[in-house]
Amino acid sequence: MSKDKYSSFRPDTRIVHTGGDPKAFKGVVNPPVYRASTVIFPTVQDMNEATKNRFDTTFYGVHGTPTSFALEDAMADLEGGYRAISVSSGLAAITTALISFLNAGDHLLMVDSAYGPARNFCNTTLKRFGVETTYYDPMIGSGISDLIRPETKVIFTESPGSYTFEIQDIPAIAEVAHQNDIKVMIDNTWSAGYFFKPFEHGVDISIQATTKYQAGHADVILGHIITKTEEDWHKIKVDTATLGQAVSPDVSYLCLRGLRTLSVRLEQHQESALALAHWLQERPEFETILHPAFASCPGHEIWLRDFTGSSGLFSVVLKDYTTEQVNAMLDGMDYFAMGFSWGGFESLMVASDPAKIRSATTWEAAGPLLRIHAGQEDVEDLIADLERGLNRLTGKA
Ligand SMILES: Cc1ncc(COP(=O)(O)O)c(C=O)c1O
Repeated sequence: MSKDKYSSFRPDTRIVHTGGDPKAFKGVVNPPVYRASTVIFPTVQDMNEATKNRFDTTFYGVHGTPTSFALEDAMADLEGGYRAISVSSGLAAITTALISFLNAGDHLLMVDSAYGPARNFCNTTLKRFGVETTYYDPMIGSGISDLIRPETKVIFTESPGSYTFEIQDIPAIAEVAHQNDIKVMIDNTWSAGYFFKPFEHGVDISIQATTKYQAGHADVILGHIITKTEEDWHKIKVDTATLGQAVSPDVSYLCLRGLRTLSVRLEQHQESALALAHWLQERPEFETILHPAFASCPGHEIWLRDFTGSSGLFSVVLKDYTTEQVNAMLDGMDYFAMGFSWGGFESLMVASDPAKIRSATTWEAAGPLLRIHAGQEDVEDLIADLERGLNRLTGKA
């Protein structure tokens, strides 16, 4: 289906159809899994032409196949960008995008509430290659101008922040950035590209850990970089190829299959997370709810202005309970499993201490933080599980 045709479709229809081309695959609805390293050419001229167009045609497995191209088209459309690039993980999407726009001697402004491994990349690899990172307060807004230096090349945002859910004023940051010829990147994974459209708010490069909501079934590791412009897409694509970043066609297939049901799954994640957060808000064991749709979440008013909804991930801050009490709660949960990642059909809950990795801001909370991912289980079962857990926390069970 041509891009022009689906551009008139409503958003949920586009998620179902974009990137699909049944006519090209004998009427088969999902693009097949093209497993390829070698792609052969009938003539020297064909080979030369394919080499020239290697980013737009099936040329060599490392650069992509019809399976990954279909997913990239769908991801670009979801985020409202020019084009998308598949990489091996969400973390690889962050690191590859940063590598593309930073050179030795450059300066990076990185949000203090960033996903931990992104911080680690800045503090180790980027540092080793001569890039200096300054962390900034997620609530800084246009005050970011005070931190800009002549050598600042990228401002990296993540909104809401990992674990602590601060919503950033992206348009204010982007305005200052563009006055200074600086690229704005966002880790847009929480919104899944569904509830926040980054390019309408001044972002240049958006990153999705497609591992989470798009794949949606806890069985895929994949990342995407989506750009606003052709120029930025080309720059990153060249670097991706230079670095040898490649994605398995099986993984691309699974992610595209997951993406087709994104809107209905997100709707349920949203509804269940809101129900859980409202229930938890009434409980005496908690200090605060860090859910973007709640007034208690820093930047809630920005969420109201810029987002169209909320996904399934949020945090709650407990009162001053001990580690042993929290462990007693977590160890006995029936449905809230402990594990890294999120965005799958299953509910998750992990304890965290954000104070350990902050440097531009201090994290002060009465007690431990619990990050909750609301899965697709019946919300009444989830609430009952939480109630039993809170009884273990307080010694009533
Ligand atoms: C906000 C955010 N960004 C990026 C990533 C990295 O994704 P991946 O696990 O695919 O590397 C994660 C993973 O948990 C995440 O939570």
